[in-house]
Amino acid sequence: MKAIVHDVYGPPEVLRPAEIPQPVPGRGEVLVRVRAAGVDQGVWHLTAGRPYLIRAAGFGLRAPANRVRGIDVAGRVAAVGPDVTRLRAGDEVYGGCGGSFAEYACAKEDQLAPKPRTLGFEEAAAVPVSACTALKALRDVGRLTAGQHVLVLGASGGVGTFAVQLAKALGARVTGVCSPGKADLVRSIGADEVLDYTTQDPTDGSVRYDLVLDIAGNRPLSRLRRALTARGTLVIVGGEGGGSWIGGNDRQLRALMLSPFTGQRLRPLAAGVRHEDLLALTRFIEAGRVTPVVDRVHPLAEVPEAVRRLRAGEVRGKAVIAV
Ligand SMILES: NC(=O)c1ccc[n+]([C@@H]2O[C@H](COP(=O)([O-])OP(=O)(O)OC[C@H]3O[C@@H](n4cnc5c(N)ncnc54)[C@H](OP(=O)(O)O)[C@@H]3O)[C@@H](O)[C@H]2O)c1
Repeated sequence: MKAIVHDVYGPPEVLRPAEIPQPVPGRGEVLVRVRAAGVDQGVWHLTAGRPYLIRAAGFGLRAPANRVRGIDVAGRVAAVGPDVTRLRAGDEVYGGCGGSFAEYACAKEDQLAPKPRTLGFEEAAAVPVSACTALKALRDVGRLTAGQHVLVLGASGGVGTFAVQLAKALGARVTGVCSPGKADLVRSIGADEVLDYTTQDPTDGSVRYDLVLDIAGNRPLSRLRRALTARGTLVIVGGEGGGSWIGGNDRQLRALMLSPFTGQRLRPLAAGVRHEDLLALTRFIEAGRVTPVVDRVHPLAEVPEAVRRLRAGEVRGKAVIAV
């Protein structure tokens, strides 16, 4: 089958087309004929092997253990492995897997769900990683309740465009932060206010938020706390940059250590793609409350270009690969 592979860690250009054997689904796994795959920052981290921490976390110390990248997947079930109970050949699914930049990919049944009826494969492939992350950040870790005021830092990207829509659907007032060229987009998906981080400091303390979702910008903890109410919650989702070894993750560790000593809740986020969360997202999507923002659909051979655009900040919402 056709796939995009890499044998060394490096920039997006190390990703190259190749013919490789079709994977075989193991216990609890499903073989998906991939129709579309989303591109998110996790793809770049695994391509680059950065921060180095992820190499030690089992992805391959010197070279990638799994040569095929791509986590978000949407497609049709081609075959099922032993002990798969919910899905069968022919079902249209979406979810997460290890290697969706390929014609076929194996995914765990508990990381898949039936594709929303209202979405095509390309839109569905934009959802899993980013929307599951946004949902967990708002609902589970952020404990968002209706009427609260949320600040979404990084509102224009993969996670942020879902966070804005989900927060609105959960009854919050939403202030989104992004660059000026993407302000219209963030407003169009429901943000009540949009702040331009190139001219305004959303953490100057002039407005205090019940929940701050820190998705981009790597602002220091002290500044993020200044934007919180006395009993507000900070959820640190991500942020690119930082050192080669642990990337931006030092803030997460410091937040955990500091949180017991303050009235504010300071929490790191470790999200994943889960069946139950996909079902919850499907309900929001089919009710018309959440719509994926697809920036551009690239053919499989353009995976390196899609990853390059993502890293350059050119993508609005999500880039998608059609397979
Ligand atoms: N914790 C977890 O489990 C988890 C799960 C998924 C992703 N993540 C992490 O979350 C982060 C975001 O992922 P993503 O897929 O949403 O990335 P993305 O698509 O690149 O979105 C980030 C957005 O933030 C905006 N931005 C950049 N600098 C900013 C700043 N200083 N202030 C406010 N906004 C800024 C960017 O566009 P403009 O600047 O042009 O507006 C971009 O649209 C990544 O670091 C990723 O690794 C973590």
